[in-house]
Amino acid sequence: GDAIKPDLSSCGESTVDTGKNCLNVPCCPPKLKGSKIIDFEPPLGCKIRYRPAAHLVDRDYLYKFESAMERMKALPVDDPRNFMQQANIHCANCNGAYSQVGFPDQKLEVHYSWLFFPFHRMYLYFFERILGKLIDDPDFAMPFWNWDSPCGMTMPQIYLDPYSPLYDENRNLKHQPDVLVNLNDEEEEEEEDSFDKLTKRKQIKSNLYVMYQQMVRSAKTASCFHGAAYLGGCESETDISCTPEPRGGTIENGAHIAVHKFVGAENPPYNEDMGSFYSAGRDPLFYAHHGNVDRMWNIWKTLPGKKRRDFDEDVWLNSSFLFYDENANMVRVKVRDCLDSKTLGYDYQSVDIPWLRSKP
Ligand code: C2O
Repeated sequence: GDAIKPDLSSCGESTVDTGKNCLNVPCCPPKLKGSKIIDFEPPLGCKIRYRPAAHLVDRDYLYKFESAMERMKALPVDDPRNFMQQANIHCANCNGAYSQVGFPDQKLEVHYSWLFFPFHRMYLYFFERILGKLIDDPDFAMPFWNWDSPCGMTMPQIYLDPYSPLYDENRNLKHQPDVLVNLNDEEEEEEEDSFDKLTKRKQIKSNLYVMYQQMVRSAKTASCFHGAAYLGGCESETDISCTPEPRGGTIENGAHIAVHKFVGAENPPYNEDMGSFYSAGRDPLFYAHHGNVDRMWNIWKTLPGKKRRDFDEDVWLNSSFLFYDENANMVRVKVRDCLDSKTLGYDYQSVDIPWLRSKP
């Protein structure tokens, strides 16, 4: 197998298939006249912007963030920086809209493999650059949803005002605060109207334990944390390294999915918006959720253990994705360009990490 390389000209409809139901969605990026693809270069500045926890931001910050989101939603519909176009990026990369260069039968999928963290990091990176550009503040940093800490385990308040551009109608109304997220996806949901202090405390404990499992105990190697290899350029469908759904990492399969399900509406079969990959990017909360997922990548690399480091294989490092940047230029980004968030000019506000102490 080879490094993954999406073929822009191949972009077609995405297919959402639940096994029972099937939906075809057009979500390819708009075709820009005379546009050519630029190779991404990490920015040269040395200033780091810090992404704040969503539950800790102040009013000035919120005002800026909301103005930026409002402007993004107000861009012409065929501007690739428009909010719906940004949401479509997720749809196109997750439901087989792209084939890979030279291999028209091999669909691109950025979930359930070692592409998960790099793809979403760069997706958020450009989303944030666009927001900053729209309010003329290149230092603007998006908030993250601190769901791994007790004070962040409910949907963040700033996303819940129906008059705010951060709001999304398609969410599970039964999961508004004070309902705590259940990071343990496997467990059956308990009776939801009996949320007394005790069950809350239990939920917090269980969530911290889940975090410890998925970040520390079961994530001792790159393959456990990032997921399995996913290669392109396969000649035959039976080549095992080329199967479209190799295996996701601990956080991807665990807390990440659990939060998607928690937010998405009770609306089978697709549970839009957050409950399905094709529509998840339509909820502004998606970007805060993935901010925290991305933060986990940074934290994981600081944990002790010789094998707790990123892959060094070229097929991973040379895998690439396509995005539009803040100037509406199409750029190709390689995994090797995004290993260190500081090189990209951002990091996360430092907050307590309680699950590090949650060794059972
Ligand atoms: Cu691309 Cu949380 O999914």
